[in-house]
Amino acid sequence: MKKTQGNGYLVIDDFLNEDELFAIQLYMQFEKYFPVHSNGWSKSWRLTDGAPFTSPCYIFSCLTRNTTLNAEIISDGMNVLSRKLLEIYGELREFLGDDWNAFSLTSYLYPSGTGLGWHEDDALYKGAYIFYAHPEWRPSWGGELCIIDTAVSSSAGLSEKVYDASENVLRLSGIIGGAVGPEFGWTIRDRNINESGIGTFVYPKPNRLVVIKPNYSHCIKKVDTSAGENVRCSVAGFFHQNA
Ligand SMILES: [Fe+2]
Repeated sequence: MKKTQGNGYLVIDDFLNEDELFAIQLYMQFEKYFPVHSNGWSKSWRLTDGAPFTSPCYIFSCLTRNTTLNAEIISDGMNVLSRKLLEIYGELREFLGDDWNAFSLTSYLYPSGTGLGWHEDDALYKGAYIFYAHPEWRPSWGGELCIIDTAVSSSAGLSEKVYDASENVLRLSGIIGGAVGPEFGWTIRDRNINESGIGTFVYPKPNRLVVIKPNYSHCIKKVDTSAGENVRCSVAGFFHQNA
């Protein structure tokens, strides 16, 4: 394993051994997938981000040391990655802190034209990870993970200004009250990215694990049309406290 650490991120290359990687790739080909918007618009993705595919969400508990799906123990497939993440448990705690005892595991397929806009992960999470499982990737295929080099508050998605509407505007709009949302102005995140303007891109190299600290805005650049039928296949999840 080769490790690289920077502002807000840790990258571990050659994370799985050859058999483990092939096992995950086999499992991923036979996993059940559905569009991320199959239950209505999932607001994690902008309307312009396209519609990647996702698997059900598995949970690994550090207390029971089991991977589960809907409370059923899973001993193969995604469990290969759980065991490997457990092997670096101490290192993960050193990097993210120790305020978590579980993590989620979800597969994602990003075909050409899909991505994920700038965001921070939910404040409930103590960190996130992405593992790249596709067998091959090329520099022209896009799909890079970009991470800004300065942390922001967990409410960075809010508007940087509060636009209060007058009584007259409220009456004209038919809306009873409330400020105009960030859709019409700059968010705190947008301003931070604009001010800093510097960060890191992480290439979706096969068999690479990326761990991200909370409050570092990040995005997935769209997979380029030059990727053709090649799909960006990842397993991603969050470190959190199990309820
Ligand atoms: Fe994220």
